[in-house]
Amino acid sequence: MPGGEPRCFPSTGSAVLLLLKNLQAPSVEAEVLVCCGAPKGSAAKADNKKNHTFVRALDTCGRIKITDPNPQWVMKTMPHARIMGDIDVEQVTESFTALMDRRKFSLVVNLTLTFFFFFFLNPTRMTSQISIIYFLLFQLIIIVSHPCHRFLTHAAGGRWQFLQRSIGISAMHMQLLNNDRVIMFDRTDFGKSNISLPDGKCRKDSTGNKVDCTAHSIEYDVLSNTFRPLMVQSNVWCSSGAVMPDGSLIQTGGFKEGDRRIRIFKSCSDCDWVEVEKGLAVTRWYATNHILPKGGQIVIGGTMQFNYEFIPKNGAPNLFSLPFLAQTSDRGVENNLYPFVFLIGDGNLFIFANNRAILFDYLNNKVVKKYPTMPGGDPRCYPSTGSAVLLPLKNLQASSVEAEVLVCGGAPKGSVAQAKKGKFVNALDTCGRIKITDPNPQWVMETMPQARVMGDMVLLPNGNVMIINGGAAGVAGWELGRNPVLNPVLYRPNDKLGSRFELQNPTTIPRMYHSTALLLRDGRVLVGGSNPHNYYNFTGVLYPTELSLEAFSPAYLNPENSSLRPKIVLPASHANLKYNQNLEVRFTVARTVALDKFSVTMVAPSFTTHSFSMNHRLLVLGSEKVIGIGNNTYAVQVTTPGSVNLAPLGYYLLFLVHQDIPSEGIWVNLQ
Ligand SMILES: *[C@@H]1O[C@H](CO)[C@@H](O)[C@H](O)[C@H]1NC(C)=O
Ligand SMILES: *[C@@H]1O[C@H](CO)[C@@H](O)[C@H](O)[C@H]1NC(C)=O
Ligand SMILES: *[C@@H]1O[C@H](CO)[C@@H](O)[C@H](O)[C@H]1NC(C)=O
Ligand SMILES: *[C@@H]1O[C@H](CO)[C@@H](O)[C@H](O)[C@H]1NC(C)=O
Ligand SMILES: *[C@@H]1O[C@H](CO)[C@@H](O)[C@H](O)[C@H]1NC(C)=O
Repeated sequence: MPGGEPRCFPSTGSAVLLLLKNLQAPSVEAEVLVCCGAPKGSAAKADNKKNHTFVRALDTCGRIKITDPNPQWVMKTMPHARIMGDIDVEQVTESFTALMDRRKFSLVVNLTLTFFFFFFLNPTRMTSQISIIYFLLFQLIIIVSHPCHRFLTHAAGGRWQFLQRSIGISAMHMQLLNNDRVIMFDRTDFGKSNISLPDGKCRKDSTGNKVDCTAHSIEYDVLSNTFRPLMVQSNVWCSSGAVMPDGSLIQTGGFKEGDRRIRIFKSCSDCDWVEVEKGLAVTRWYATNHILPKGGQIVIGGTMQFNYEFIPKNGAPNLFSLPFLAQTSDRGVENNLYPFVFLIGDGNLFIFANNRAILFDYLNNKVVKKYPTMPGGDPRCYPSTGSAVLLPLKNLQASSVEAEVLVCGGAPKGSVAQAKKGKFVNALDTCGRIKITDPNPQWVMETMPQARVMGDMVLLPNGNVMIINGGAAGVAGWELGRNPVLNPVLYRPNDKLGSRFELQNPTTIPRMYHSTALLLRDGRVLVGGSNPHNYYNFTGVLYPTELSLEAFSPAYLNPENSSLRPKIVLPASHANLKYNQNLEVRFTVARTVALDKFSVTMVAPSFTTHSFSMNHRLLVLGSEKVIGIGNNTYAVQVTTPGSVNLAPLGYYLLFLVHQDIPSEGIWVNLQ
């Protein structure tokens, strides 16, 4: 096989005989697929007692027509490297069953042979107790190393933490507030959740008939890892929102009786949702909200809505047309819902829908610029759901601040129709990156280590991007996603093109349609949700509804890095900051290496749902000079953003980053 690397135990790859067809032919063609394994010498390196080194596994498969007169290996690269994997032969059940039977057979043969070896031949004249122990040990080694039993991916890092088995609801929508509580909600008309409403309260469900005494919203307290039920009156399913400058969450729209509601949540120990009926000009379901520079929100699109409106109302009528949304709606499929919207420094909104984008002057209802269609032309928005982020904004004092957007994953054209017929097309494995402020902007395409649909993209405090959750085939919607992608992927925007992605350690819980992820103040990524069914279905379905909550800790939180991790001393938590203000940040750090490897960043917390983090942005305030002021304490002077277009009014998380390792954040209020 090309490369000459070993593929059998202990450099364990796997193999199958592919489906045998045309069985009536005089000579039946046969093909074999061999995948994974480990490079030459890996076993010795792993086994070196003084220095265990775990070499990255092979990521290639070889396929060969063994009945050809001149058989040749054809090599293909897999989405990730793997040893001790099993080949899951979908659609080739016959040969798979044969393989399983052979495995069972080989286990029986091996048991018999070793038993015979130890008890009858007994080469070393052991006592019977010792030979029994040897026999059992030998079996244990064989069972543990048997390809049926283990499945392992060597990946770069990060750790998963299981926070809650059940928060009672599926975390379909999430927003972090400035008291480190996360507001979550799912849907009010799909049965009883796993948490009761407080104080014996009940409500009539959307049909007005059935009484439901369970909650469909909760407040999760990050610091104590506890939660309490909240009460939404109307259906919040597939809605949108943003946090206002005063810290209250304003959420809009939803389904049926909830589709024109505005709901307000102001945090306190026993606060609950307050709802405004007919608060919206039109129905909003699958819309995107963006915070406005001086407070207020714009609500864009939604199912069958090719327009936008403002909250609070901006005159009457509060409805403005946006033909771009009609132009990007694929007939019968849409592929442009939950558009990716970002405010940039010149005050315009970048709006991406389906496979292309515009720069939009929302105040004058004018398209300022049209961006080229992303190469390939495949859809990236719901239900062919990809994800997107505005990459970190830097050099904030420049007269025009450069802005770049990264859009990743999605599903090839036609995938929705295919999925509805039970054919789950592989997701897109590409990202497009574009400098939206360039005079002649062009997409630069990059390939992810894995294909992904319904992923979430989260900005980390150090400016890297975590791509997490989702599947590798199918699309968004009930029962339409397949092949969960369990490994997050880290994207380092400042690295060289071609070496920006790094695979992270996998979770064990599929997070398919209706899963979410967001950045916490301590640098972890909170992960929840996954509800690919029309109800709460916990058993008897593919990918049961998930009520659990996990956190992913990127490698910067590894204990090895703790001596490099700074701790902010000043400003104090919840400090008020002005625009264009000189700000001294004081911090302590146990071990400093270079005084020029510090930066100060500010992250706006997002409203996350359906693979998009609305209002998420990161500003690099830069680092001037770090000076030591004794007692392991240092000070750095930075300048806060100069305009509300770069950083809308409101609460941000402020981090001090040292050699890519962020401090715990503090909340600041930009006023
Ligand atoms: C351990 O082994 C690896 C590869 O075999 C080698 O690169 C590394 O230098 C070794 N480390 C030590 C401390 O010997
Ligand atoms: C429902 O909640 C209970 C604990 O309150 C938990 O034991 C159970 O696993 C939850 N059910 C599901 C399906 O998550
Ligand atoms: C999910 O549960 C509901 C009601 O509990 C049931 O009607 C429905 O058939 C289930 N869905 C699937 C895909 O099994
Ligand atoms: C943190 O520590 C790990 C080693 O445990 C290292 O691989 C990683 O790159 C370090 N730094 C960051 C920024 O993650
Ligand atoms: C350093 O810390 C000690 C003990 O906490 C304190 O007494 C001293 O004043 C500090 N020195 C400076 C320069 O802050």
